[in-house]
Amino acid sequence: MPRTSLAAVHDGRSDRLDVREVRVADPGPGQVLVRLRASGVCGSDRHVLDGEWQLPSPTVMGHEGAGVVEAVGDGVVDVAPGDHVVLSWYYPCRRCAACAAGRAWACTGTRSNDCLLPDGSTPLADADGTALYPYLAVGTMSEYAVVAESAAVKVPAELPFDVASLIGCSVTTGVGAVTNNAKVPAGASAAVVGCGGVGLSVVMGLALVGADPVVAVDLSDEKLATAQRFGATHLVRADTDVAAAVRGITGTGADYAFEVIGRVPTIEMLPALLTPGGTGVLVGLPPVGAVAGIDVLELAESGKTLIGSNYGGAVPSLDFPRLARLYLSGRLPLDELVSHRIGLGEVNEAFDAMRAGERTRSVIVL
Ligand code: APR
Ligand code: ZN
Repeated sequence: MPRTSLAAVHDGRSDRLDVREVRVADPGPGQVLVRLRASGVCGSDRHVLDGEWQLPSPTVMGHEGAGVVEAVGDGVVDVAPGDHVVLSWYYPCRRCAACAAGRAWACTGTRSNDCLLPDGSTPLADADGTALYPYLAVGTMSEYAVVAESAAVKVPAELPFDVASLIGCSVTTGVGAVTNNAKVPAGASAAVVGCGGVGLSVVMGLALVGADPVVAVDLSDEKLATAQRFGATHLVRADTDVAAAVRGITGTGADYAFEVIGRVPTIEMLPALLTPGGTGVLVGLPPVGAVAGIDVLELAESGKTLIGSNYGGAVPSLDFPRLARLYLSGRLPLDELVSHRIGLGEVNEAFDAMRAGERTRSVIVL
């Protein structure tokens, strides 16, 4: 029986979300029905609301969510009703060469970016029957979601839902950029430009692996103070000469520098923060079509590397339970990331606060 679900819907035009009842289909073969309990409010949703990325619309927004499996379709073996799950906004197809090589984040068979399930369908419709699309094939700002089996990853039931939801995007993206993409060794120096939910997760990842010093850069003093609680050893305001400050702290520049905003000017600044031979990591996602200017002679002569980082280079079925265990054993202070717990009706205010550079992370409790 299709059910109704309160959901935050984006019409594809304005930057506002409309919270209304939508229809959710039963899970088909290989699909899982999840009763969502928490959804984070992430910068990638804002890109869509602000027209920086185009998607099939209308869209049920949200891609950082956790909940409980309510029912499964034919053939589902990975999860069962009652399991607590974190949703992955990039479901691996498990058949392409990248998946076979254990590189799920580079899967070429997924239809997540088209907001479609593996069979090309959408499980969502408006009250009048018009098709709605789940953002990145999850659509977590909703009481219910139907997702691909490989998008629902079982986690320990003792994990609080708000923390679990953040493992679905910001934490995996940020910590994974450090551990999977950059593979930062203990004692390496690092700079993190942008300390929102994802940047603070980078800082946490750097503290976890024992990087030192860890320089946090942001426009907001409040964000910098938070970064210090997560393990940043030095704080630099972004409206100063950041490259000079990072050189002053590290001597010759950082071994690793992370851009975690998605702005072209801060991406272009990255090489200047690095010591010769250092690695710059692009974590923040810019508007579609953005092009950056890099001094390529300087990059080549100094042997610096720039790498892209998508979803923290994660294999969700491996990384989500790992991050959950690190939280449960006290190694990752993930509950400090949750600064605001809100209802679905307060979602527009949460995006306005993000646009103003406020709040560590808002989490919608469902
Ligand atoms: N210099 C330094 N910091 C800045 C600047 C700047 N010029 N402009 C903005 N910031 C800071 C903000 O103050 C904020 O702390 O960058 C941070 C951005 O954080 P959020 O808006 O909370 O975004 P977040 O969810 O962390 O995502 C960041 O990562 O995965 C991507 O799509 C995501 O592109 C987005 C990025
Ligand atoms: Zn996200």
